Amino acid sequence: MPHSTDNTGRSQTRTNHPLVKSRKRASIAALLAGGLLSTGLLTTGLLVGAERAGAGQVPNGLPDLIVPADNPLTAEKIALGKQLYFDTRLSADNTVSCATCHDPAKGFSNGDQFATGVGGKKGGRNSPTVINAAYQAFQFWDGRAKTLEDQALGPVANPIEMNLPLPEMEKRLRAIPGYKAQFVKIFGREPVAADVAKAIAAYERTVLSGDAPYDKFVAGDTKALSEAAQRGLKLFNGKANCAACHSGPNFTDNAFHNIGIGMASDHPDTGREAISKMEGDFGSFKTPGLREIARTGPYMHDGSLKTLKDVIEHYNRGGTPNGTLDEEMFPLKLTDAEKADLVTFMEEALASPSYPNHTAPELPK
Ligand code: HEC
Ligand code: HEC
Repeated sequence: MPHSTDNTGRSQTRTNHPLVKSRKRASIAALLAGGLLSTGLLTTGLLVGAERAGAGQVPNGLPDLIVPADNPLTAEKIALGKQLYFDTRLSADNTVSCATCHDPAKGFSNGDQFATGVGGKKGGRNSPTVINAAYQAFQFWDGRAKTLEDQALGPVANPIEMNLPLPEMEKRLRAIPGYKAQFVKIFGREPVAADVAKAIAAYERTVLSGDAPYDKFVAGDTKALSEAAQRGLKLFNGKANCAACHSGPNFTDNAFHNIGIGMASDHPDTGREAISKMEGDFGSFKTPGLREIARTGPYMHDGSLKTLKDVIEHYNRGGTPNGTLDEEMFPLKLTDAEKADLVTFMEEALASPSYPNHTAPELPK
Protein backbone atom coordinates (compact mmCIF):
# COMPACT_ATOMS: atom_id res chain seq x y z
CA MET A 1 0.00 0.00 0.00
CA PRO A 2 1.30 3.46 -0.84
CA HIS A 3 0.27 4.50 2.60
CA SER A 4 2.92 5.96 4.83
CA THR A 5 2.89 6.97 8.43
CA ASP A 6 4.76 9.97 9.74
CA ASN A 7 6.61 9.93 13.03
CA THR A 8 3.59 11.18 14.91
CA GLY A 9 1.85 7.97 13.91
CA ARG A 10 -0.73 9.74 11.84
CA SER A 11 -1.30 8.44 8.38
CA GLN A 12 -0.34 10.65 5.47
CA THR A 13 -2.44 11.47 2.49
CA ARG A 14 -2.43 8.61 0.05
CA THR A 15 -1.72 10.81 -2.90
CA ASN A 16 -2.24 8.21 -5.60
CA HIS A 17 -5.62 7.26 -4.27
CA PRO A 18 -8.42 9.61 -5.28
CA LEU A 19 -10.52 8.93 -2.23
CA VAL A 20 -9.13 9.51 1.17
CA LYS A 21 -11.42 9.04 4.06
CA SER A 22 -11.71 12.21 6.05
CA ARG A 23 -10.66 11.69 9.61
CA LYS A 24 -13.67 13.38 11.11
CA ARG A 25 -17.27 13.20 10.11
CA ALA A 26 -17.82 16.30 8.00
CA SER A 27 -19.91 18.65 10.03
CA ILE A 28 -22.27 19.81 7.35
CA ALA A 29 -24.64 21.64 9.64
CA ALA A 30 -21.75 23.59 11.12
CA LEU A 31 -20.36 24.37 7.68
CA LEU A 32 -23.69 25.57 6.46
CA ALA A 33 -24.38 27.63 9.52
CA GLY A 34 -20.96 29.27 9.16
CA GLY A 35 -21.60 29.85 5.47
CA LEU A 36 -24.91 31.48 6.13
CA LEU A 37 -23.38 33.92 8.55
CA SER A 38 -20.29 34.76 6.58
CA THR A 39 -21.52 34.76 3.02
CA GLY A 40 -25.28 35.01 3.22
CA LEU A 41 -25.43 32.85 0.11
CA LEU A 42 -27.08 29.72 1.35
CA THR A 43 -30.78 29.28 1.15
CA THR A 44 -32.74 28.39 4.22
CA GLY A 45 -33.87 25.19 2.53
CA LEU A 46 -30.37 23.80 2.51
CA LEU A 47 -29.74 24.84 6.07
CA VAL A 48 -32.97 23.34 7.31
CA GLY A 49 -32.20 20.08 5.55
CA ALA A 50 -28.82 19.93 7.22
CA GLU A 51 -30.11 20.91 10.63
CA ARG A 52 -32.61 18.11 10.49
CA ALA A 53 -29.73 15.81 9.71
CA GLY A 54 -28.73 15.97 13.34
CA ALA A 55 -25.81 17.06 15.44
CA GLY A 56 -23.47 18.18 12.72
CA GLN A 57 -23.40 14.83 10.99
CA VAL A 58 -24.65 13.28 7.82
CA PRO A 59 -28.29 12.14 8.02
CA ASN A 60 -28.90 9.09 10.21
CA GLY A 61 -28.40 5.80 8.47
CA LEU A 62 -25.71 7.07 6.10
CA PRO A 63 -22.03 6.22 6.46
CA ASP A 64 -19.28 8.83 6.94
CA LEU A 65 -18.75 11.02 3.92
CA ILE A 66 -15.67 10.30 1.86
CA VAL A 67 -13.99 13.57 1.01
CA PRO A 68 -10.86 13.75 -1.19
CA ALA A 69 -7.92 15.14 0.77
CA ASP A 70 -7.33 17.84 -1.83
CA ASN A 71 -10.90 19.10 -1.77
CA PRO A 72 -11.96 19.66 1.83
CA LEU A 73 -15.54 20.79 2.38
CA THR A 74 -15.92 24.40 3.40
CA ALA A 75 -19.10 26.43 3.64
CA GLU A 76 -17.90 28.97 1.08
CA LYS A 77 -16.93 26.30 -1.42
CA ILE A 78 -20.26 24.52 -1.04
CA ALA A 79 -22.08 27.82 -1.60
CA LEU A 80 -20.02 28.53 -4.74
CA GLY A 81 -20.63 25.02 -6.05
CA LYS A 82 -24.34 25.44 -5.54
CA GLN A 83 -24.35 28.63 -7.61
CA LEU A 84 -22.46 26.90 -10.40
CA TYR A 85 -24.82 23.92 -10.24
CA PHE A 86 -27.83 26.15 -10.81
CA ASP A 87 -26.23 28.53 -13.32
CA THR A 88 -27.30 28.23 -16.98
CA ARG A 89 -24.34 30.42 -17.97
CA LEU A 90 -22.33 27.19 -17.86
CA SER A 91 -24.03 26.18 -21.12
CA ALA A 92 -23.36 27.40 -24.67
CA ASP A 93 -26.70 29.18 -25.11
CA ASN A 94 -27.34 30.00 -21.44
CA THR A 95 -30.34 27.68 -21.23
CA VAL A 96 -29.10 24.58 -19.42
CA SER A 97 -27.62 24.05 -15.95
CA CYS A 98 -26.85 20.91 -13.98
CA ALA A 99 -30.21 21.45 -12.29
CA THR A 100 -32.01 21.23 -15.65
CA CYS A 101 -31.31 17.51 -15.77
CA HIS A 102 -30.79 17.00 -12.03
CA ASP A 103 -33.65 19.08 -10.65
CA PRO A 104 -34.27 18.99 -6.88
CA ALA A 105 -38.02 19.21 -7.58
CA LYS A 106 -37.74 16.00 -9.63
CA GLY A 107 -35.62 13.91 -7.30
CA PHE A 108 -32.44 15.51 -8.72
CA SER A 109 -33.30 13.84 -12.03
CA ASN A 110 -35.45 15.35 -14.81
CA GLY A 111 -38.68 13.35 -14.81
CA ASP A 112 -38.13 12.34 -18.43
CA GLN A 113 -37.00 9.18 -20.19
CA PHE A 114 -33.89 10.85 -21.59
CA ALA A 115 -31.89 13.96 -20.80
CA THR A 116 -32.42 17.04 -22.98
CA GLY A 117 -29.47 19.37 -23.41
CA VAL A 118 -28.84 22.62 -25.35
CA GLY A 119 -30.94 23.05 -28.49
CA GLY A 120 -33.27 20.27 -27.36
CA LYS A 121 -30.67 17.59 -28.09
CA LYS A 122 -31.47 14.27 -26.46
CA GLY A 123 -28.99 11.69 -25.24
CA GLY A 124 -29.65 7.98 -25.05
CA ARG A 125 -29.55 7.61 -21.29
CA ASN A 126 -31.78 8.54 -18.39
CA SER A 127 -30.55 11.24 -15.96
CA PRO A 128 -29.55 9.49 -12.75
CA THR A 129 -30.22 11.26 -9.48
CA VAL A 130 -27.42 13.18 -7.77
CA ILE A 131 -28.79 12.24 -4.32
CA ASN A 132 -26.13 10.36 -2.35
CA ALA A 133 -23.89 10.21 -5.44
CA ALA A 134 -21.22 11.29 -2.94
CA TYR A 135 -21.12 7.69 -1.73
CA GLN A 136 -20.75 6.02 -5.11
CA ALA A 137 -17.57 4.17 -6.05
CA PHE A 138 -18.40 4.93 -9.69
CA GLN A 139 -20.25 7.72 -11.49
CA PHE A 140 -22.37 7.30 -14.66
CA TRP A 141 -24.42 4.25 -15.58
CA ASP A 142 -21.30 2.57 -16.96
CA GLY A 143 -19.03 3.80 -14.17
CA ARG A 144 -16.66 5.68 -16.46
CA ALA A 145 -15.84 8.31 -13.82
CA LYS A 146 -14.88 7.57 -10.25
CA THR A 147 -15.17 10.76 -8.27
CA LEU A 148 -17.61 13.64 -8.40
CA GLU A 149 -14.64 15.85 -9.32
CA ASP A 150 -13.89 13.62 -12.34
CA GLN A 151 -17.53 13.71 -13.35
CA ALA A 152 -18.39 17.40 -13.01
CA LEU A 153 -16.85 18.90 -16.14
CA GLY A 154 -18.04 16.19 -18.54
CA PRO A 155 -21.55 17.59 -18.99
CA VAL A 156 -20.33 21.18 -19.42
CA ALA A 157 -18.22 20.33 -22.47
CA ASN A 158 -20.51 17.57 -23.81
CA PRO A 159 -22.01 18.78 -27.13
CA ILE A 160 -25.43 17.29 -26.36
CA GLU A 161 -25.54 18.52 -22.76
CA MET A 162 -24.18 22.02 -22.04
CA ASN A 163 -21.84 22.27 -25.05
CA LEU A 164 -19.51 24.87 -23.51
CA PRO A 165 -15.78 24.26 -24.19
CA LEU A 166 -13.92 24.53 -20.88
CA PRO A 167 -11.64 27.45 -21.92
CA GLU A 168 -14.80 29.35 -22.85
CA MET A 169 -16.34 28.45 -19.47
CA GLU A 170 -13.26 29.80 -17.67
CA LYS A 171 -13.39 33.01 -19.70
CA ARG A 172 -17.06 33.54 -18.88
CA LEU A 173 -16.60 32.97 -15.16
CA ARG A 174 -13.59 35.33 -15.00
CA ALA A 175 -15.76 38.02 -16.55
CA ILE A 176 -18.34 37.75 -13.76
CA PRO A 177 -16.93 39.75 -10.82
CA GLY A 178 -19.09 37.93 -8.26
CA TYR A 179 -17.62 34.59 -9.32
CA LYS A 180 -14.07 35.85 -9.74
CA ALA A 181 -13.98 37.18 -6.19
CA GLN A 182 -15.22 33.92 -4.72
CA PHE A 183 -12.72 31.78 -6.65
CA VAL A 184 -9.85 34.02 -5.62
CA LYS A 185 -10.92 33.86 -1.99
CA ILE A 186 -11.50 30.08 -1.92
CA PHE A 187 -8.83 28.76 -4.31
CA GLY A 188 -6.39 31.66 -4.40
CA ARG A 189 -6.70 32.14 -8.16
CA GLU A 190 -9.08 33.18 -10.93
CA PRO A 191 -11.62 30.60 -12.09
CA VAL A 192 -10.06 27.51 -13.69
CA ALA A 193 -11.88 24.36 -14.73
CA ALA A 194 -10.35 22.12 -12.05
CA ASP A 195 -11.61 24.44 -9.30
CA VAL A 196 -15.07 24.58 -10.87
CA ALA A 197 -15.14 20.78 -10.61
CA LYS A 198 -14.05 20.91 -6.98
CA ALA A 199 -16.70 23.45 -6.00
CA ILE A 200 -19.50 21.57 -7.76
CA ALA A 201 -18.39 18.29 -6.18
CA ALA A 202 -18.33 19.94 -2.74
CA TYR A 203 -21.91 21.08 -3.25
CA GLU A 204 -22.98 17.64 -4.45
CA ARG A 205 -21.65 16.17 -1.20
CA THR A 206 -24.44 18.06 0.56
CA VAL A 207 -27.15 16.48 -1.59
CA LEU A 208 -27.89 13.69 0.85
CA SER A 209 -30.92 11.71 1.84
CA GLY A 210 -31.04 9.58 4.94
CA ASP A 211 -32.96 9.49 8.20
CA ALA A 212 -35.86 7.86 6.39
CA PRO A 213 -38.54 5.66 7.98
CA TYR A 214 -36.34 2.71 6.98
CA ASP A 215 -33.46 4.04 9.11
CA LYS A 216 -35.75 4.59 12.10
CA PHE A 217 -37.10 1.08 11.71
CA VAL A 218 -33.69 -0.59 11.59
CA ALA A 219 -32.66 1.52 14.57
CA GLY A 220 -35.45 -0.14 16.55
CA ASP A 221 -38.55 2.01 16.06
CA THR A 222 -40.96 -0.73 15.03
CA LYS A 223 -43.74 1.79 14.36
CA ALA A 224 -41.70 3.67 11.75
CA LEU A 225 -42.98 1.45 8.94
CA SER A 226 -46.51 0.37 8.05
CA GLU A 227 -47.31 -3.34 8.05
CA ALA A 228 -47.23 -3.37 4.26
CA ALA A 229 -43.82 -1.69 4.13
CA GLN A 230 -42.50 -4.17 6.69
CA ARG A 231 -43.71 -7.06 4.55
CA GLY A 232 -42.08 -5.35 1.56
CA LEU A 233 -38.78 -5.07 3.42
CA LYS A 234 -38.86 -8.77 4.20
CA LEU A 235 -39.50 -9.60 0.56
CA PHE A 236 -36.77 -7.18 -0.53
CA ASN A 237 -34.24 -9.06 1.59
CA GLY A 238 -35.74 -12.49 0.95
CA LYS A 239 -38.00 -13.99 -1.69
CA ALA A 240 -37.64 -11.05 -4.12
CA ASN A 241 -33.81 -11.15 -3.87
CA CYS A 242 -33.42 -7.37 -4.32
CA ALA A 243 -30.75 -7.10 -1.63
CA ALA A 244 -28.49 -9.39 -3.67
CA CYS A 245 -27.54 -6.20 -5.51
CA HIS A 246 -29.28 -3.31 -3.70
CA SER A 247 -27.35 -3.78 -0.47
CA GLY A 248 -25.92 -1.54 2.24
CA PRO A 249 -27.07 1.85 3.51
CA ASN A 250 -27.51 3.24 0.00
CA PHE A 251 -29.07 0.11 -1.43
CA THR A 252 -26.30 -0.51 -3.94
CA ASP A 253 -23.39 -2.92 -4.12
CA ASN A 254 -21.51 -0.35 -6.24
CA ALA A 255 -21.14 -2.99 -8.92
CA PHE A 256 -22.41 -3.65 -12.45
CA HIS A 257 -25.03 -6.15 -13.52
CA ASN A 258 -27.00 -7.09 -16.60
CA ILE A 259 -30.64 -7.27 -15.56
CA GLY A 260 -31.86 -7.39 -19.15
CA ILE A 261 -32.88 -3.77 -19.69
CA GLY A 262 -32.95 -2.75 -23.37
CA MET A 263 -31.63 -6.17 -24.34
CA ALA A 264 -34.49 -6.89 -26.75
CA SER A 265 -33.25 -4.06 -29.02
CA ASP A 266 -31.23 -4.71 -32.22
CA HIS A 267 -28.47 -2.45 -30.91
CA PRO A 268 -28.46 -2.66 -27.15
CA ASP A 269 -26.43 -0.19 -25.10
CA THR A 270 -23.26 -2.17 -24.32
CA GLY A 271 -22.99 -0.51 -20.89
CA ARG A 272 -20.02 -1.39 -18.72
CA GLU A 273 -18.39 -3.47 -21.48
CA ALA A 274 -17.39 -0.30 -23.33
CA ILE A 275 -15.32 0.73 -20.30
CA SER A 276 -14.01 -2.58 -18.94
CA LYS A 277 -13.56 -4.20 -22.39
CA MET A 278 -14.73 -7.45 -20.83
CA GLU A 279 -17.34 -9.37 -22.79
CA GLY A 280 -19.03 -10.57 -19.63
CA ASP A 281 -19.95 -6.95 -18.89
CA PHE A 282 -22.10 -6.64 -22.00
CA GLY A 283 -25.33 -4.86 -21.09
CA SER A 284 -24.25 -4.37 -17.46
CA PHE A 285 -25.00 -1.12 -15.68
CA LYS A 286 -24.25 0.25 -12.25
CA THR A 287 -26.68 -0.76 -9.53
CA PRO A 288 -28.42 2.52 -8.65
CA GLY A 289 -29.08 3.43 -5.04
CA LEU A 290 -32.75 3.44 -4.11
CA ARG A 291 -33.19 6.28 -1.61
CA GLU A 292 -35.94 8.74 -2.69
CA ILE A 293 -36.68 6.31 -5.52
CA ALA A 294 -40.37 7.29 -5.71
CA ARG A 295 -39.30 10.76 -6.90
CA THR A 296 -36.84 9.81 -9.65
CA GLY A 297 -38.83 7.97 -12.31
CA PRO A 298 -38.84 6.95 -15.07
CA TYR A 299 -36.40 4.19 -14.24
CA MET A 300 -33.36 2.33 -15.60
CA HIS A 301 -30.45 3.52 -17.79
CA ASP A 302 -32.79 3.95 -20.74
CA GLY A 303 -35.72 5.32 -18.74
CA SER A 304 -37.82 2.50 -20.19
CA LEU A 305 -39.80 1.64 -17.05
CA LYS A 306 -42.28 4.32 -16.01
CA THR A 307 -43.33 3.23 -12.56
CA LEU A 308 -42.07 1.19 -9.62
CA LYS A 309 -44.82 -1.28 -10.42
CA ASP A 310 -43.30 -1.71 -13.90
CA VAL A 311 -39.92 -2.29 -12.24
CA ILE A 312 -41.33 -5.04 -10.03
CA GLU A 313 -43.00 -6.70 -13.03
CA HIS A 314 -39.63 -6.71 -14.83
CA TYR A 315 -37.94 -8.47 -11.90
CA ASN A 316 -40.87 -10.82 -11.38
CA ARG A 317 -40.39 -12.09 -14.95
CA GLY A 318 -36.71 -12.72 -14.15
CA GLY A 319 -35.62 -9.84 -16.39
CA THR A 320 -35.14 -10.12 -20.13
CA PRO A 321 -33.21 -13.27 -21.07
CA ASN A 322 -29.87 -12.63 -22.82
CA GLY A 323 -26.35 -14.08 -22.93
CA THR A 324 -24.96 -12.06 -20.02
CA LEU A 325 -28.02 -11.89 -17.75
CA ASP A 326 -26.90 -11.82 -14.10
CA GLU A 327 -27.20 -15.11 -12.26
CA GLU A 328 -29.17 -13.37 -9.50
CA MET A 329 -31.99 -12.76 -11.98
CA PHE A 330 -34.72 -15.41 -12.07
CA PRO A 331 -38.53 -15.49 -12.04
CA LEU A 332 -39.73 -14.52 -8.56
CA LYS A 333 -43.29 -15.88 -8.58
CA LEU A 334 -44.60 -12.95 -6.53
CA THR A 335 -48.31 -12.63 -5.79
CA ASP A 336 -50.06 -9.35 -6.58
CA ALA A 337 -50.12 -8.55 -2.87
CA GLU A 338 -46.38 -9.14 -2.60
CA LYS A 339 -45.70 -6.90 -5.59
CA ALA A 340 -47.75 -4.14 -3.95
CA ASP A 341 -45.86 -4.57 -0.67
CA LEU A 342 -42.51 -4.16 -2.44
CA VAL A 343 -43.70 -0.94 -4.06
CA THR A 344 -44.99 0.32 -0.71
CA PHE A 345 -41.63 -0.44 0.89
CA MET A 346 -39.77 1.61 -1.71
CA GLU A 347 -42.24 4.51 -1.68
CA GLU A 348 -42.71 4.77 2.05
CA ALA A 349 -39.54 3.51 3.71
CA LEU A 350 -36.96 5.20 1.49
CA ALA A 351 -38.48 8.70 1.38
CA SER A 352 -36.95 11.02 3.94
CA PRO A 353 -38.82 13.82 5.72
CA SER A 354 -35.57 15.80 5.43
CA TYR A 355 -35.37 15.47 1.64
CA PRO A 356 -32.79 18.00 0.32
CA ASN A 357 -35.35 20.24 -1.32
CA HIS A 358 -32.85 22.82 -2.55
CA THR A 359 -33.81 25.88 -4.54
CA ALA A 360 -31.65 28.03 -6.81
CA PRO A 361 -29.48 30.49 -4.90
CA GLU A 362 -28.98 34.08 -6.02
CA LEU A 363 -26.43 34.00 -8.81
CA PRO A 364 -23.38 36.28 -8.95
CA LYS A 365 -23.27 39.22 -11.34
C1 HEC B 1 -28.56 17.47 -20.56
C2 HEC B 1 -28.80 16.82 -19.27
C3 HEC B 1 -27.68 16.84 -18.26
C4 HEC B 1 -26.98 17.94 -17.78
C5 HEC B 1 -27.11 19.37 -18.21
C6 HEC B 1 -26.13 17.44 -16.73
N1 HEC B 1 -26.30 16.09 -16.58
FE1 HEC B 1 -25.45 14.93 -15.19
N2 HEC B 1 -26.09 13.30 -16.12
C7 HEC B 1 -26.96 13.28 -17.20
C8 HEC B 1 -27.06 11.93 -17.72
C9 HEC B 1 -27.91 11.49 -18.89
C10 HEC B 1 -26.20 11.14 -16.93
C11 HEC B 1 -25.91 9.66 -17.12
C12 HEC B 1 -24.99 9.55 -18.33
C13 HEC B 1 -24.36 8.19 -18.45
O1 HEC B 1 -24.40 7.41 -17.52
O2 HEC B 1 -23.77 7.93 -19.52
C14 HEC B 1 -25.64 12.03 -15.91
C15 HEC B 1 -24.80 11.62 -14.88
C16 HEC B 1 -24.43 12.43 -13.83
C17 HEC B 1 -23.83 11.99 -12.60
C18 HEC B 1 -23.53 10.55 -12.20
C19 HEC B 1 -24.62 10.03 -11.31
C20 HEC B 1 -24.62 8.54 -11.21
O3 HEC B 1 -25.35 7.99 -10.38
O4 HEC B 1 -23.90 7.87 -11.96
C21 HEC B 1 -23.59 13.09 -11.82
C22 HEC B 1 -22.99 13.15 -10.44
C23 HEC B 1 -24.01 14.24 -12.61
N3 HEC B 1 -24.53 13.79 -13.80
C24 HEC B 1 -23.85 15.56 -12.23
C25 HEC B 1 -24.01 16.61 -13.12
C26 HEC B 1 -23.48 17.95 -12.92
C27 HEC B 1 -22.67 18.39 -11.72
C28 HEC B 1 -23.86 18.69 -13.99
C29 HEC B 1 -23.54 20.14 -14.30
C30 HEC B 1 -22.13 20.48 -14.42
C31 HEC B 1 -24.64 17.82 -14.85
N4 HEC B 1 -24.68 16.57 -14.30
C32 HEC B 1 -25.27 18.23 -16.01
C33 HEC B 1 -27.63 14.38 -17.70
C34 HEC B 1 -27.21 15.68 -17.51
C1 HEC C 1 -28.66 -8.69 -10.26
C2 HEC C 1 -28.64 -7.46 -9.50
C3 HEC C 1 -29.97 -6.83 -9.18
C4 HEC C 1 -31.07 -7.39 -8.54
C5 HEC C 1 -31.24 -8.80 -8.05
C6 HEC C 1 -32.05 -6.34 -8.43
N1 HEC C 1 -31.56 -5.19 -8.99
FE1 HEC C 1 -32.58 -3.44 -9.20
N2 HEC C 1 -31.11 -2.74 -10.42
C7 HEC C 1 -29.93 -3.38 -10.70
C8 HEC C 1 -29.25 -2.69 -11.79
C9 HEC C 1 -27.90 -3.07 -12.37
C10 HEC C 1 -30.09 -1.64 -12.18
C11 HEC C 1 -29.86 -0.68 -13.36
C12 HEC C 1 -30.10 -1.51 -14.64
C13 HEC C 1 -30.16 -0.76 -15.94
O1 HEC C 1 -30.48 0.43 -15.96
O2 HEC C 1 -29.91 -1.41 -16.97
C14 HEC C 1 -31.25 -1.69 -11.27
C15 HEC C 1 -32.28 -0.76 -11.28
C16 HEC C 1 -33.31 -0.75 -10.35
C17 HEC C 1 -34.28 0.31 -10.19
C18 HEC C 1 -34.30 1.61 -11.01
C19 HEC C 1 -33.44 2.65 -10.35
C20 HEC C 1 -33.28 3.90 -11.15
O3 HEC C 1 -32.78 4.86 -10.56
O4 HEC C 1 -33.62 3.95 -12.33
C21 HEC C 1 -35.13 -0.05 -9.17
C22 HEC C 1 -36.28 0.77 -8.65
C23 HEC C 1 -34.70 -1.34 -8.71
N3 HEC C 1 -33.59 -1.73 -9.44
C24 HEC C 1 -35.32 -2.06 -7.69
C25 HEC C 1 -35.07 -3.41 -7.49
C26 HEC C 1 -35.94 -4.29 -6.73
C27 HEC C 1 -37.20 -3.86 -6.04
C28 HEC C 1 -35.39 -5.53 -6.81
C29 HEC C 1 -35.97 -6.83 -6.28
C30 HEC C 1 -37.27 -7.17 -6.80
C31 HEC C 1 -34.17 -5.43 -7.57
N4 HEC C 1 -34.01 -4.13 -7.97
C32 HEC C 1 -33.30 -6.48 -7.84
C33 HEC C 1 -29.48 -4.52 -10.09
C34 HEC C 1 -30.31 -5.44 -9.46
